[in-house]
Amino acid sequence: MPNPTWFRKRLQDPFLKKAHREDLRSRAAYKLQEIADKYKLIHSYSKVLDLGCAPGSWTQVVRRFLGPKGLVVGIDLLPVEPVEGATLLQGDITDPAMQAAIGRLCPGGFDLILSDMAPHTTGIHHADTERSAELVGLVLDLCGRWLKPGGACLAKVFEGAEYPALRQRAKGLFGFAKTVTPEASLARSREVYLLGTGFRGARVARPDQPPPAPSPSPTEPPAPSPTPGLKMGRKKPAGEG
Ligand SMILES: C[S@@+](CC[C@H](N)C(=O)[O-])C[C@H]1O[C@@H](n2cnc3c(N)ncnc32)[C@H](O)[C@@H]1O
Repeated sequence: MPNPTWFRKRLQDPFLKKAHREDLRSRAAYKLQEIADKYKLIHSYSKVLDLGCAPGSWTQVVRRFLGPKGLVVGIDLLPVEPVEGATLLQGDITDPAMQAAIGRLCPGGFDLILSDMAPHTTGIHHADTERSAELVGLVLDLCGRWLKPGGACLAKVFEGAEYPALRQRAKGLFGFAKTVTPEASLARSREVYLLGTGFRGARVARPDQPPPAPSPSPTEPPAPSPTPGLKMGRKKPAGEG
């Protein structure tokens, strides 16, 4: 039986009401919308990776910014209903097979890597912040593999003892790094978003790795070869051949 106070608050939540009206799958959409508008993160031609995308509201927001040359790839442990024009994968981003599939989808690299990933919480503060920090550490590693020079990253973190080191690392990787808390984040939540823009390049992030190859063409990248265990889907936008 849901807690009546929780239930009443949800019914009154303006972001939830707005999400229903605007056909967005979750109130989380407005966190990305606010940050993307303020920092001009998404352009019509952007190639965007959306980590932890279920139920899909960030993917929906990204899609609304994109034109025909844009791309959004979303991944989640959970299945996600198709989002028109998005490529969605089901799997674990820590899995090397999943990482290889993503690399094949956008060989020229991404302009923006988003992560709204949240670990399963235990209720034990330091355990939850540690697991969240591990995920963000992985996201920063992936920036070194896939982010184009000048690109941006936005990653959710449960703020804890590990956070200052993560922010410091982001400052080394990006020309500009900042902690942002969007209005739609619940007041009781410990989540913040680590934003980095002006990525300095793969050589700074991973001196052992070459930078991503330049994009072969401004058109859609080739479809990935099916990988066993991956559930994939891309719903074509209306009018796309
Ligand atoms: C808060 S939800 C994301 C909400 C989403 N941004 C939206 O707007 O609809 C966090 C998601 O992170 C996913 N997640 C957590 N760890 C993951 C991992 N290792 N790989 C892929 N997804 C993960 C969870 O399954 C969960 O659906």
